[in-house]
Amino acid sequence: MTENLGRVPRIYELCADGIRVGISDFGAAINYIRIQTERGWRDVCLGFDDADEYILSGTYCGATIGRVANRIKDARFLLGGREYVLSANDNKNCNHGGKEGVDRKFFHADPCGNMLELTLVSPDGDMGFPGELKLAVRYAIGARRLDITYTALSDKDTLWAPTCHAYFCLDGVQKGNCLDDMLKIYADSYTPLAADMTPVGNILPVKGTPFDFTSFRAIGERINKKCEQLEIAGGYDHNFVLKGSHAATAYGSESGISLDVYTDMPGVQLYTGNFLRGRSRFGELSPRAGFALEPQFFPDSANRKEFIAPVLRAGEIKTHYISYIFGSV
Ligand code: BGC
Repeated sequence: MTENLGRVPRIYELCADGIRVGISDFGAAINYIRIQTERGWRDVCLGFDDADEYILSGTYCGATIGRVANRIKDARFLLGGREYVLSANDNKNCNHGGKEGVDRKFFHADPCGNMLELTLVSPDGDMGFPGELKLAVRYAIGARRLDITYTALSDKDTLWAPTCHAYFCLDGVQKGNCLDDMLKIYADSYTPLAADMTPVGNILPVKGTPFDFTSFRAIGERINKKCEQLEIAGGYDHNFVLKGSHAATAYGSESGISLDVYTDMPGVQLYTGNFLRGRSRFGELSPRAGFALEPQFFPDSANRKEFIAPVLRAGEIKTHYISYIFGSV
């Protein structure tokens, strides 16, 4: 299959004690994560078998996102006194790097022991972003953990803010929805959305709202509550302001499989798969089949003085990381 791509993505498997991960060279994407339990192996991450299906679905399932994760309002930004116009793919906004972000590119894959390094050169002006960007994504596996390191270098000042768009269902993806997964996010505040899904610009406390995940709550517990912010997004699709590098802990209420997410980026997007669709490896996807926890710079931070902008200076080498650590409760 994958007729439109003209090339079949290759999946590389990384294995360690209690964990097996498949990584695709198309989009440097996580294709599967299998965790060993007392009752056998469980798939806890959504994935597509067919890259054309993946593209059609518009889900970004498992992919590396770039050059800039999340939305840039009106697909434009100012840097060094110059305005850059980006590829708009989310009404007037640029989402997840534009129409052909790095999630739709083949990377060069280089396996080495317990690691896989994937590299890509994004040309100057790609999707409107300045500078030739050299990007390396390194996946390293250890006992029940997966560490992702992103490294970037540009020959011009530019923006760069990656994420990993893995969708999880810790009760096992065959279940078809993630609503019973329990979640705790290490954040006291979040950035509310305007109607176009870009941030209003303020930061609000989560206390007393359905966004309060400061103690464990089932993802589905308050998702249908009457709340303007949930209505705008059709569920959770919001950036949380992290207090430190430990972003979140989740676990399957039935499987007991737990996941801890760590990062050096300032925010995490909780997206409850509100528009999930497409024929995945596990059958037709429905909304809420999985949830994504996307460590990130705040959405539209390039245009918001209140937020830290993800500027990468010419010649500077920057790295960011995301770690997923699995266990049991
Ligand atoms: C975004 C959603 C979007 C989804 C799939 C998420 O990261 O926040 O708004 O629908 O990706 O594109």
